[in-house]
Amino acid sequence: MKKFAVVGASVWGTAWLIAGAVLGVYMYRHISHPFYFVLPFLALGILGVVPASLALLVMRARSWKARLATVALHAAIIALAVGGPAAWRNYYETPRNGGPYLVWSDDPKTSVTVCWTAETPASGRVEYAAGGSEEWKTAECPAAHNPKVKIAGLQPGGKYRYRIPVLGGQEFPFQTAPAAPEDFSFAVYGDNRHAGGFSWHGSVIKAMQREDAATPFRFIVNSGDIVERPGKGHGWQWATFLRDITPLAASRPYEVSLGNHESGGKPEPFDEYFDYGHPEHWRAFDYAGVHFIMLSTEDDLKPGSPQFSWLEQTLATPPTDTRFTVVTLHKPLLTHDPRGRYNDPKMRAELEPLFAEKGVDIVFAGHVHAYEHHHLPAFEHVITGGGGVLLWNKPVPGPETVKTETVWHFCAVDVKGKTMSVRALRTDGSVIDAFEVRSRR
Ligand SMILES: [Fe+2]
Repeated sequence: MKKFAVVGASVWGTAWLIAGAVLGVYMYRHISHPFYFVLPFLALGILGVVPASLALLVMRARSWKARLATVALHAAIIALAVGGPAAWRNYYETPRNGGPYLVWSDDPKTSVTVCWTAETPASGRVEYAAGGSEEWKTAECPAAHNPKVKIAGLQPGGKYRYRIPVLGGQEFPFQTAPAAPEDFSFAVYGDNRHAGGFSWHGSVIKAMQREDAATPFRFIVNSGDIVERPGKGHGWQWATFLRDITPLAASRPYEVSLGNHESGGKPEPFDEYFDYGHPEHWRAFDYAGVHFIMLSTEDDLKPGSPQFSWLEQTLATPPTDTRFTVVTLHKPLLTHDPRGRYNDPKMRAELEPLFAEKGVDIVFAGHVHAYEHHHLPAFEHVITGGGGVLLWNKPVPGPETVKTETVWHFCAVDVKGKTMSVRALRTDGSVIDAFEVRSRR
């Protein structure tokens, strides 16, 4: 009997390990990164080893009590492995208290919108005051699980602070965009989402905070894919995302270009969390002489579409003090991946000539889980898709490539006079790539 158990357990465990290796080869062939060979090998290995070890231990046990204890231990391990994550998911189906975080749903010079999540929709009241003043004013929206309160009528270039009574009244500083061009910095990154429960977003945010202490970021731009899935059963991802970004986003706006994961064809949850001023998922804002255009690759972007027509118009009519035009979109115009994934020559053919003609200086994209910098004839093209998601792309150098690396990172951008300096930084602060863009206006 014991011999039978040993042979049976060995065959069972080996079969799952072989299945893991086969799936690993399949995944590696479709996903560039070698980690995705190891992952299924480990996962399926566990599926083989747990029951195999159970069978062996049961057969080797000398008493019924020992056998029962072995079975109970394995049952507890399996119950925890299955039930723990399920309980975690259920807990966050109702939004918990989270945030606050800021966005712009109107003119950055004179307004800011304060957002947070509330376990109980009790009050949508925000109190705010200028500088060190104790003259507190109020702005509010109806009580909701996702309050979004616009504070308007502020002074350009003003320093303010706000507090949310129902969240405990902690004060957070913020400032409005200046009336005229001045030097400033901002951060760009994307693809921080969870994948199978894993994300290193917190490490990227900590690296961003360290950089922020030296060169404060006025706002953060995210090129999309902030959660793995948007809807029912995935409330915990929004809660985790807000917990990660709050240390930075409580005191400066956080601007997202809609990604395919939080869209998923049903962007309603995204619209619950963010109010960028209108129902469309594309928009533009101006900050200190830089014209920012946030596109949605999850909506129709073909010539003739409402978004494309809007894009043509906003590119043609930047403010007169514009030094640079920056475009952010989730899916890139190009990428060089040995598997040929994510390349969309049609989109590039439709957008690159327009960007070139209208003087776009730099494009920030995501979707590819890596850093890629391409120098195109008319502008720079950066993929900054290493915001914390598992890294599964290994781009290779192409004719336009300046630098590529598969690593968690973000980009720090300093605008000084007529020069825009971009630094792509790893989470330890070391530099992946650094380059400058000179204003052509
Ligand atoms: Fe994506």
